[in-house]
Formats: sequence, C-alpha cells, structure tokens
Amino acid sequence: MTSKTFSLRDNSTGGQVELDVRSGTIGPDVVEIGSLYPEKGVFTYDPGFASTASCSSTITYIDGEQGVLLYRGYPIEQLAEKSSFLEVAYLLLHGELPGQAQLDSFIHSISTHTMMNETLLRLFNGFHTNAHPMAMVAGVVGSMSAFYHDTMDIYDARQREIFSHRIIAKLPTIAAAAYKHTLGQPFMYPRNSLDYTSNLLRMFFAVPAARYEVDPIAAEALDLLFILHADHEQNCSTSTVRLAGSSGTNPYSAIASGIAALWGAAHGGANEAVLGMLEEIGSAKNIATYVDRAKDKADPFRLMGFGHRVYKNFDPRATIIREMCHRVLNQMGQTDSPVFDLALKLEEIALKDEYFLEKQLYPNVDFYSGIIYRALGIPSSMYTVMFAIARSVGWVAHWQEMIIDPETRIGRPRQLYIGAPQRDYTPIKKR
Ligand code: ACO
Repeated sequence: MTSKTFSLRDNSTGGQVELDVRSGTIGPDVVEIGSLYPEKGVFTYDPGFASTASCSSTITYIDGEQGVLLYRGYPIEQLAEKSSFLEVAYLLLHGELPGQAQLDSFIHSISTHTMMNETLLRLFNGFHTNAHPMAMVAGVVGSMSAFYHDTMDIYDARQREIFSHRIIAKLPTIAAAAYKHTLGQPFMYPRNSLDYTSNLLRMFFAVPAARYEVDPIAAEALDLLFILHADHEQNCSTSTVRLAGSSGTNPYSAIASGIAALWGAAHGGANEAVLGMLEEIGSAKNIATYVDRAKDKADPFRLMGFGHRVYKNFDPRATIIREMCHRVLNQMGQTDSPVFDLALKLEEIALKDEYFLEKQLYPNVDFYSGIIYRALGIPSSMYTVMFAIARSVGWVAHWQEMIIDPETRIGRPRQLYIGAPQRDYTPIKKR
C-alpha cells in the first residue's frame, strides 16, 4: 500500500513538513494536520470549517459539484422513489437496508414508543401560547434527560438503541403538542396503527370533536420530505450534536443542542424565512427590487432558499422536491396559489441573473419545502420543527457513530488570538 503525503513549506524558516494523507472510499483526500502544532507550533485557520473534515464517517456522502447525495451509498433519487422514511431511518442507523422482518420490527418499535410521559406533556403549560414551537421543542427534548434515566449510559449499545427509537418516535408527538398548545386545542394522542407521517398529520389536525381522515397525498409528500431531510453529513446542526456529544453529555441534551442550531435562518430556519420573504415580496412586479437588494453588499437582505455551502451546481433534493411540489399543488387543487406562482417567477429570474450564476447560487431544498408545508396547511412557524423531525434520524446516526469511534476526542477547536497582548491592571481612578 502506498502511503500518500502532503508537503507544506514554511517560507519564514525554509523548513518543510510532510503530512500524512488519508483517502476515503470516494471524495477528496484529507491531510492529517494533528502533528502541525506539536511539531511546528502553528494551528490551521478555517472559519466556518469550509476545508476541514471534523471526523470520518460512513453515513452520508455529498459531491457538491456534481449534485450527488448518497445515504450509506444509495443515491437519494432511488431512495426518494422507492423507499419510505422509516426504511431510510433504519438504513441510516444500521448501515444496510432492512429485510422485511427487520423493517417490521423497527416500525413496531417506533410506533410503540410514540407516547410522551404525561409529566413531560404538562411542561407545555409552562410556555406562553405565543412561544415559537422550536423553543418549546428544544426545551422539551432537552428535558427528556430528566425522564428517561434508563437510556443515559452512552456506552451501553442497547440503551443507545432505545434512546434512538424514543427520539425518532416521540418527536412528532412533541411537535404536535407544541402546535396544539399554540392553538389552545386539546392534545391528540398518537395512534400506533397509522404510519409515521399519517399519525403525525392526525396529531396535528384532528380534534376530539370531529372525524379526521388523513389525506394520503399529504402523508406521501411528508414522507418524501422527511427522506430528503433525514441526513446531510457534517452540517451545522449535526456537527453541533457531535460536538456537544463529544463531551459525554447525555444524548437528549446533545439532540436538543442540534435542534437549537437548526433553528437559525441560514440553516433549518430557511424554509420559514422563504415564506416570510415571498410574503414580503408580495407580487411579481417587486421581484426585481428584491433581487437587486440581494446583490447589494450594503444591504443585509439575501434571497432565502438560494445558495448552499456544499452544492454549487444544483441541490439534488431541490430537483426531487420541485416535482412533488407541483404534484401536491395539482392534487390539492392549489395550482393558482399566488405564493407558488411568485416562487416560480423568482426562481426563473434568479437562475438567469449574472450575479446568481457567477456565485453559483441555486434554489436549495428549502426553497420548495415551505411551499409544500403551506399547501398541507402547516403554519410557517412549524416548518423548522418538521425539518427537525426528519433530521433527528441523521443526528442520532451521527451521535452513535461518534460514540463508538475510537478516534473520538472531546471537540475543542483552537483560535487565532487578535486581542490585547498581556497588560497590567489599572486601578479604576486612573482609567
Ligand atoms: N442571496 C444573495 N447572495 C448570496 C446568497 C443569497 N441567498 N447566498 C450567498 N450569497 C453570496 C454571498 O453574499 C457571497 O458573496 P461574496 O462572495 O460577494 O461575499 C457569496 O454568495 C458566497 O456566499 P457565502 O455566504 O460565503 O456562502 P456560505 O457557503 O457561507 O453560505 C448559505 C451558504 C448560508 C446557505 C447562504 O447561501 C445563505 O445564507 N443562503 C440563504 C439561506 C438559506 O437558504 N439557507 C438554507 C441552506 S440549506 C439547509 O440548511 C437545508
């Protein structure tokens, strides 16, 4: 086996350093820089970690130039067409597609872990009805560590498995409780005979006083969105879960920190921000003004739902979801939706604009997901919560992988200090 190295030349001393290079199965090699500081006394500097691999992983592969997304080696297009969210969840957690008996047993376990401890449910009464659902969901998931003591030993494989099923099973219940709390409606208990997304829709939209039929198109659209959002390698929230988890904290706290990171508008909050932006633009005649604002460096406005840290040609999830978006609007009789019309016009204009072409800014998955959620009657404040439900699978898979990885150390980046050099304390009267 030939071992690759990478040479760095230090121009100030004329010295050279040889660094080992590691290759993955596909994708760019990585240069191992762990010896740089002990041997040369320098750190590397990479704000936003755009060129830094924080770990090795077997879960998800992305090629941003080619628009490729693989879960455990399987292309997202194939999974979107042929699989289901819970089968994809099994794949992400276990590394292989399940056989029928394995899938049945996994679905059974998820559907029998859907109820929340009643005391946990009462936590919602402590929130104002105008609390953002993400605030409630992050708080309640963090509080799970106060309830489920039997899954706190992170080095016990069975406890990790029960924890992972609990998170995936209970997040829809927690999300629905947050939604019902904002409405002031009675909480609807889960119904374990329904599939994952039908159960979620029922908990969101049913009321005890009336009959509720789940719309199969709505359940199918949600299932697809959840497949597309289930994992995305070392993104901001997943890296947050890994970083928090690397300290050995309990898994519920690690997931709660991921939910907090997801909330931001540059990440999972973008789907909510897209709808807010479309409503602000209001009409096609205003698009040019907003596109100009997005290009103006002095203006903080950005076109929400455009651009991606990794995808620089197209987001493969956006291509899949765009089709589903048309299907949902057609089948739900909402083709004349002014918001969707505006979104398509904005997409068309931005895709022809020199600025967006030059900077390789394309619509991302969240440009379309918000439009689908809106068509399903889900309020915009819940969009990022829906994303969190799907991404919980990726967070759990990465957390598990990190815990059993012998290379895991507590995550602890260094810095380039640019503050005041050492100086002496001045008594207050002399300042
Ligand atoms: N509108 C206008 N200009 C943009 C946009 C945008 N949406 N996105 C990036 N740019 C510009 C930047 O101003 C920058 O210009 P410069 O080179 O002249 O300074 C250039 O394009 C590169 O952008 P960066 O911010 O450096 O790219 P980065 O990889 O750090 O950010 C991000 C990626 C956060 C997704 C960014 O494109 C953005 O803010 N998009 C809007 C929010 C959004 O849709 N987020 C969802 C991401 S997908 C997800 O989380 C599932």
